[in-house]
Amino acid sequence: MATAEEGVIGVFDSGFGGLTVLRALVARLPRYDYFYLGDSARAPYGGRSLQVVHSFTREAVEFLFEAGCPLVVLACNTASAQALRTLQQRHLPAHRPDRRILGVVRPSAEALAGLPPGAIPGLTQPSLASGTVAVLGTAGTVASGSYALELAKLAPCLRLVQQACPLWVPLVEAGETSGPGVDFFLHKYLDPLFARPDPPARVLLGCTHYPLLWPGIRAIVPPAVDVIAQGELVAERLADWLGRHPEMEQRLSRNASRRYATTDDPSWFAAQGEPIMRTTIAVDKVRLPPWRASE
Ligand code: DGL
Repeated sequence: MATAEEGVIGVFDSGFGGLTVLRALVARLPRYDYFYLGDSARAPYGGRSLQVVHSFTREAVEFLFEAGCPLVVLACNTASAQALRTLQQRHLPAHRPDRRILGVVRPSAEALAGLPPGAIPGLTQPSLASGTVAVLGTAGTVASGSYALELAKLAPCLRLVQQACPLWVPLVEAGETSGPGVDFFLHKYLDPLFARPDPPARVLLGCTHYPLLWPGIRAIVPPAVDVIAQGELVAERLADWLGRHPEMEQRLSRNASRRYATTDDPSWFAAQGEPIMRTTIAVDKVRLPPWRASE
């Protein structure tokens, strides 16, 4: 495949929620160039089958590779949980041996386990040798078992409770992020966690949209319980990964440019994205071609 590599970091999410991750990447690693793609026309991914999420994610990643990205970050938990492993183990070796795809599940599981020590400043309980931790995510993320798999490897003494919150993404997509109606649905998924005999000591917001519900979630979760959003921890782990992979780091361009694309209405995407990025953004509308291996 003839691709003009430009050295831009691709960031993919099913919609605009992944901008919560991009914002943190830009804050932590501002010199690099970023190309954010949100597949809003087909979002949400959270209730879709594994096969569909895999196929959509492969199309998105290939689009970003074709646009010149040597490295793509899957900000989307659902895509990371359901498609990353197969893309890394089968697609890259067969079709893109010189490219890399990173996801959010592994670094987030590390954060839940408190690894590496001190990686998340301000935790009320920095080291957690035993007890319960919770992941809030889409139905697809929970069903994938990816968080359970990663956490079992990293911290087998921790008990993981997973809570699917299928109504939170539609609320955020509809612009509903606070108020009594939203609080009802926040309580719907959070209250059962804290009614357990073994309530979690740490809660991960394992979906790109959930940080947009932060004030309501924080108000319901007991103060002694740490709530972890992913943006900063993913940015920190990417910085660490680039430090350990100079062969990739040297391929990245450094013009501090940011490019945005969506598969749906660019004006709507910009209206949702600008408050998250805290700046005006120019958004292109793009089509994701179906994947066909050319060999
Ligand atoms: N971006 C997805 C995630 O982080 C949430 C939205 C969706 O369901 O597509 O899991």
